[in-house]
Amino acid sequence: MLRALVNQSTPLPSKSKLLILGAGFSGQYVAKLARALGTEVICSRRTTDKQGAHFAFDSSTNNIPSTKVLSGVTHLLSCIPPDLNGKDPVLIALEEQLRQLPLKWAGYLSTTGVYGDCKGKWAYETDNPKPIQERSKRRLACEMAWLQSGLPIQILRLPGIYGPGRSAIESLRKGQAKMVHKPGQIFSRVHVNDIAGAIFHLIHLASQGIQPKVINVADNIPSTNIEVLNYASKLLKCSPPPIEPFETACATMSPMAVSFWQENRRVSNKMLCKELGYKLIHPDYKSGLKNCLMNNILD
Ligand SMILES: NC(=O)c1ccc[n+]([C@@H]2O[C@H](COP(=O)([O-])OP(=O)(O)OC[C@H]3O[C@@H](n4cnc5c(N)ncnc54)[C@H](OP(=O)(O)O)[C@@H]3O)[C@@H](O)[C@H]2O)c1
Repeated sequence: MLRALVNQSTPLPSKSKLLILGAGFSGQYVAKLARALGTEVICSRRTTDKQGAHFAFDSSTNNIPSTKVLSGVTHLLSCIPPDLNGKDPVLIALEEQLRQLPLKWAGYLSTTGVYGDCKGKWAYETDNPKPIQERSKRRLACEMAWLQSGLPIQILRLPGIYGPGRSAIESLRKGQAKMVHKPGQIFSRVHVNDIAGAIFHLIHLASQGIQPKVINVADNIPSTNIEVLNYASKLLKCSPPPIEPFETACATMSPMAVSFWQENRRVSNKMLCKELGYKLIHPDYKSGLKNCLMNNILD
């Protein structure tokens, strides 16, 4: 685990117990930071044969943990996306159990897709969400359900998540990277270390009574896919793939990939970094990609 991240993070109070539901890519990093800080953490995945799973939880097969498994949990993070009906898997299966816990803080990882197309402008937490994609409409419905749950919830809206094992470095190495040019198109992103760091920062602030309901977690420099791939190619000392115009590139892209290019926004981190004082570990893609090159998922 990155020493700088551990050094700048405050452990949870003693006797705290963090529950991470859906400990996939982001959840594993949060768990790793919790352990490095000496905080007890338990993680769910859909099956227990997956990395870092302490118990199984799968709403789709009704595989639900017992109250004993969740006993004593004081902090909760849900990383589980909405189901296809726009319902939240955690609230459907576990809401009553969660209400019985002595919860001090609950976090929900959401997406900045709920802002919809901002035509390249900045997206702020105070903006009225205008989701376009069906999956983003489902996400907004889940955000609303969490906000109405009465649990001590904080919604974290995330742009593209990257980190060791999941970045432009891997897509170049696998020959899957596409240098797509669409005039004016920009993407925001966040390194997974900063998701973990921001969560501990926010939990600490919440214990002091400072807990905005919705918060963007993004780096400082929204940038084009070409800038990111050029820099990753430089780090790998390889030639970047040729630039293709969006109109021709999209013929070979998945519908999901194309949908990301139909929205254009810069995600503001002013609230997190200026108002709430979080110091980014990776303020931009250059710092983040260097970390990806140096580390792998087991760092
Ligand atoms: N990837 C991105 O760039 C991005 C950007 C913005 C927001 N987000 C959202 O942020 C959250 C975290 O992202 P991530 O990339 O870290 O996610 P991830 O690695 O895909 O992890 C999702 C977790 O949810 C679990 N899960 C899925 N359906 C479930 C169900 N029905 N019941 C119980 N568990 C279920 C998965 O179980 P298994 O571990 O068994 O697979 C996994 O642990 C997700 O909600 C994601 O949609 C992602």
